[in-house]
Amino acid sequence: KQILIINGPNLNLLGKREPDIYGNRSFVDYLKTVEALFPDVQLRYFQSNHEGELIDKIHELGFDADGIVINAGAYTHTSIAIADALAAVTAPAVEVHISNVHARETFRHHSYLSAKCKGVVVGLGLMGYELAIRSLSEER
Ligand code: DQA
Repeated sequence: KQILIINGPNLNLLGKREPDIYGNRSFVDYLKTVEALFPDVQLRYFQSNHEGELIDKIHELGFDADGIVINAGAYTHTSIAIADALAAVTAPAVEVHISNVHARETFRHHSYLSAKCKGVVVGLGLMGYELAIRSLSEER
């Protein structure tokens, strides 16, 4: 199985960015744990602060991958284009948010991506990525 993990804007700063909300672990460090948890899954990781680059990566791998785990950061709440890209490709996607977006500002309550995803994991910290990978790698 090949699973693509996509992180959007500002998630390169995990560990440094608002640690009271997002924790103090970097994603690259967390990724090592995840790789050890899923030795049979080929994980591809991509992070970008640019909307079009996120879309390009979804196009590039979204027809071959068995699943996409996506945390589009603030683009979650603004990007019809990323939602369209997820709808265009064949790989099922799971949306992840580290924080509980529903307990935060109202502009974080709506996601353009959720309707194009198999499921959504919200507010469980980095563990959300593990749960998303598990759900995608056990399907089909
Ligand atoms: C986030 C929640 C978004 O509202 C925010 O813009 C982020 C991170 C999360 O993982 O909790 O950048 O997607």
